[in-house]
Amino acid sequence: MKNVLITGGAGFIGSNFIRYLLNAEKNIHVFNLDALTYAGSLENLKDLPFSERYTFINGNILDQEFLNGLLREHQIDTIVHFAAESHVDRSILGPGQFVQTNIVGTFTLLEAARKYWLTENDLQEQVRFHHISTDEVFGSLKPGEPAWVEETSYAPNSPYAASKASSDHLVRSYGHTYGLPYSVTNCSNNYGPYQFPEKLIPLIILNALEEKPLPVYGDGQQVRDWLHVEDHCSAIHLVISKGAAGSTYNIGGDNQPANLTIVETICDILDEQKPRANGTAHRDLIKFVQDRPGHDRRYDMDAGKIRRELGWTPRRTLNEGLLDTVNWYLSHPEWVLAIRKQLDYQSWLAKNYDAREKTS
Ligand code: NAD
Ligand code: DAU
Repeated sequence: MKNVLITGGAGFIGSNFIRYLLNAEKNIHVFNLDALTYAGSLENLKDLPFSERYTFINGNILDQEFLNGLLREHQIDTIVHFAAESHVDRSILGPGQFVQTNIVGTFTLLEAARKYWLTENDLQEQVRFHHISTDEVFGSLKPGEPAWVEETSYAPNSPYAASKASSDHLVRSYGHTYGLPYSVTNCSNNYGPYQFPEKLIPLIILNALEEKPLPVYGDGQQVRDWLHVEDHCSAIHLVISKGAAGSTYNIGGDNQPANLTIVETICDILDEQKPRANGTAHRDLIKFVQDRPGHDRRYDMDAGKIRRELGWTPRRTLNEGLLDTVNWYLSHPEWVLAIRKQLDYQSWLAKNYDAREKTS
């Protein structure tokens, strides 16, 4: 691993991963390719360590010629592909962009890798295409059903999940058909620093700080598996350094509280760290709103394979991670301000919230 291309490195997990990788690997150069959509921000990459080994490239994974030139020019030997449309609610409101970015974008990147690594050169032994995917490809679990393993059949329910499932299949097919050395990780819900406040945990923290309602979809008893983003980063690093080509790993934190419990826990932490001016509990801001259409009920990942084969262990419990995360948002008001200024987010949130208010 010498010249590493990270796609989507200005987003939540990608920016955390760039920090992690520059610290962990001293002899690499990181090229961060990001289109800076509403979800990407260079604010996430301020004060990077070892920035002399880092280059930002503003570009789109849908641009074939550009990608072909980029891989050649920088002699890319490792690709870690994060770039995606990542928000389930947005995929329900407008699935087209998810098909473009997540499916066609992944295909375009695979084509560039195939051309530079396998057609123009014979680099099979020295390269890796690592694809970042999600537990949502597996669908939804009924009560008592066992956690998902790598062999579980895909059954995606939302347009987002279907677009990610499709991209996973494309990656696998390039390995099987062309011999492209690949790996895939399917991870559960991440949380931590630099997460865009459309996702549950940062949305609840920032709404609570601004005395806004805390929207809980449906009955709030849906279950997700939660993992701190740094633990996701350590897992990805292990897989790209030690995982065999052609392998897939499930990643999860073994933390499965109901959504309502997560929201209540954040409220309780804020009561301690930043009490409301009127002295009442943050829980009073909770508001049950219309459910997400087709809302998956329960996720549960079995991360036994990566633990056994690569010795991965997550470092943070959910309670520790939530406390750290609340404190991170409290201590980074300048980041919050900059992200809040992203207009598209403001208008989307307003529109979406109005819609929920009317029907709840
Ligand atoms: P994010 O929305 O925060 O960031 C996505 C990044 O991709 C942004 O910086 C955006 O500008 C960039 N991007 C979007 N379209 C692009 C394009 N056409 N060309 C180049 N760049 C583009 O997403 P995230 O939450 O950091 O998720 C990153 C990856 O991890 C995604 O593939 C997602 O499916 C996967 N994932 C996320 C989670 C989670 O809990 N957030 C869990 C498992 C897997
Ligand atoms: O499981 C991995 C996935 O986790 C990733 O692949 C996605 O990219 C990521 O966005 C995330 O998807 P979710 O839909 O699970 O995340 P979100 O934060 O949007 O929602 C978490 C849960 O909280 C979900 O059950 C919906 C609920 N929710 C969400 C929001 C934004 C609410 O109850 N209220 C809210 O306001």
